[in-house]
Amino acid sequence: MKLLEVKNLKTCFRTSRGELRAVDDVSFNLEHGESLGLVGESGCGKTTSALSIARLLPKEGRIGGGEILLEGVDLVRVSDEEIRKRRWKDVAIVFQGAMNSLNPVMKVGLQIAEAIVLHEGVGRDEAMKRAGALLELVEMPAARIGHYPHEFSGGMKQRAMIAMALACSPKIIIGDEPTTALDVMVQAQILDLLKKLRKELGMGMILITHDLSILGETCDRIAVMYAGKIVETGTVEDVFKKTSHPYTEKLIACFPNVEGAKMIPDGIMGAPPNMMDLPAGCRFHPRCEKATELCRTVEPEIRSIAGKHAVSCHYGGER
Ligand SMILES: Nc1ncnc2c1ncn2[C@@H]1O[C@H](COP(=O)(O)OP(=O)(O)O)[C@@H](O)[C@H]1O
Ligand SMILES: [Mg+2]
Repeated sequence: MKLLEVKNLKTCFRTSRGELRAVDDVSFNLEHGESLGLVGESGCGKTTSALSIARLLPKEGRIGGGEILLEGVDLVRVSDEEIRKRRWKDVAIVFQGAMNSLNPVMKVGLQIAEAIVLHEGVGRDEAMKRAGALLELVEMPAARIGHYPHEFSGGMKQRAMIAMALACSPKIIIGDEPTTALDVMVQAQILDLLKKLRKELGMGMILITHDLSILGETCDRIAVMYAGKIVETGTVEDVFKKTSHPYTEKLIACFPNVEGAKMIPDGIMGAPPNMMDLPAGCRFHPRCEKATELCRTVEPEIRSIAGKHAVSCHYGGER
């Protein structure tokens, strides 16, 4: 059985200007032990997808359709109470800047232990022991449990947040831009750590980023999102070597894998559409140099082109 199957997920937000469909008919899946990268510019629906899967949407948000099958159980249809019981055991999220949510006046070990007490129902002493073990799992000395957050570097704080996310042995860990605020070297260390943990613990992992270049080393498969939809998905090789969507091409050009200058300077690329006022036809056509009349009028469906490789471009895979 697949670990996770997201089918035709639609997630909306109530806004003062009406309903905004942040995730629009998104489907993907994840095998046990597999790592999927979710990439796209800011505002394309990555975080909303993650919050939908973890059932952590804010009150103005709602899942308007689709299924989220976790080992066959549809999380969309599970009661709030059941979700509370399962929370952090099914899906744990490490957010961007999560490290800033550590309580500055409480020892880090105690904060991890509190999460363990809350979710696992074990005693204080046992929880502290587990907190120490979790810190070792994220490659920090267990003795660090007695330290305060200000005694930690940014990277160490993010490791502590990863330890906290692992407290209930989740089946899936989602990193939502978990390294965005960190410098390049620390970023690489955290990504290596996530990769190691996924292998050791056999979890599924979804790594969310706006920077496509970090996914090649970290993930098995990639899904590229644009304006609430997946526009291209496939193995790392499919996406990097057989790139079939013009948006993916632009992302690759913006975030070259090797160190060096961007091939497309900021600004030339333009911006994603307003989600309340989407263009007709392909959502990417106003920014696409290859757009034709067909693209301006008919919205492409996502279609399989080979193996796991799928694309939603009228011309994808054929040019
Ligand atoms: N709480 C909210 N209320 C209204 N709109 C929201 C809310 N959260 C996100 N959105 C909108 O949903 C879209 C997707 O946002 P998000 O999932 O955060 O994108 P990403 O994580 O890819 O940057 C954006 O247009 C954003 O403005
Ligand atoms: Mg986000």
